Amino acid sequence: MNLIDQNKLAWDQKVAVHVESKMYDHSSFLKGRNSLPLIDQELLGDINGLSVCHLQCHFGQDTISMSRMGAKATGVDFSQEAVEFGSRTAMDLGLDTRFVHSDVYSISEKLSEPFDIVYTSYGALCWLDRLDLWAREIDRILKPGGKLIIVEFHPFIYTYDNSLQKLEYDYFQSDAIIEQELGTYADREDKNQYTMATWNHGLGEIFSSLNNVGLRIVDFKEYDYSPYNCFENMVEHLPGRFSFGHIKIRIPMMYSLQCKK
Ligand SMILES: C[S@@+](CC[C@H](N)C(=O)[O-])C[C@H]1O[C@@H](n2cnc3c(N)ncnc32)[C@H](O)[C@@H]1O
Repeated sequence: MNLIDQNKLAWDQKVAVHVESKMYDHSSFLKGRNSLPLIDQELLGDINGLSVCHLQCHFGQDTISMSRMGAKATGVDFSQEAVEFGSRTAMDLGLDTRFVHSDVYSISEKLSEPFDIVYTSYGALCWLDRLDLWAREIDRILKPGGKLIIVEFHPFIYTYDNSLQKLEYDYFQSDAIIEQELGTYADREDKNQYTMATWNHGLGEIFSSLNNVGLRIVDFKEYDYSPYNCFENMVEHLPGRFSFGHIKIRIPMMYSLQCKK
């Protein structure tokens, strides 16, 4: 099995586990909770009436949250299980959120109309081996004047092991990092074993891939916390703000990046 198919299998398996997890708290989501972290809601701003394409949308909570905020939202993911679950949820909630089954590298073949906003977040880029193709697809599906919004974990974090104890991985993209993981970030008690391949991308590589297709960076911020408790050894320093308990200095945990076409 090639690495991408292996990842797809792992993500298909994770959908059912994540839907039941405390972290994704699907029952409160069904009752109306907006699953988007506050940072993301602020960056998105007033999206009422705008078309938004959410890349790597997983099982759709954030995409559906954008529909609830008034957007014409489309979620894209290469996991069939994820997009089917998202579509069923939207239908059950009486919302018109659309879900499209596609690899990130071929979305422009599946979507005919361009979007006002392309959004992608938290743990998306590490699954991609070709940021040049990713950027090319974003450019193809954005309207002229449209905006790309990325909110992501900082590449600094990905140079360490999952508990931020040991410097372990290249900051710059190199070969795939292939790992076996017991359980998932959303449910550490999960007994499934997943084999997955990820790729590290430094900030320079991310900026250049967007710049090379003509997307203009208009805003970039780094944050010293994560809105998710998704790594080991994290503590909630302030409500909704997690960082590593054993690290007493401020390190970059995530970043947001906005580009204009
Ligand atoms: C960590 S999740 C994104 C998390 C999302 N922000 C959330 O919290 O729900 C990563 C997603 O990327 C998807 N994915 C990974 N590689 C992909 C690819 N090449 N094309 C499309 N989707 C991909 C996976 O199926 C998974 O749903």
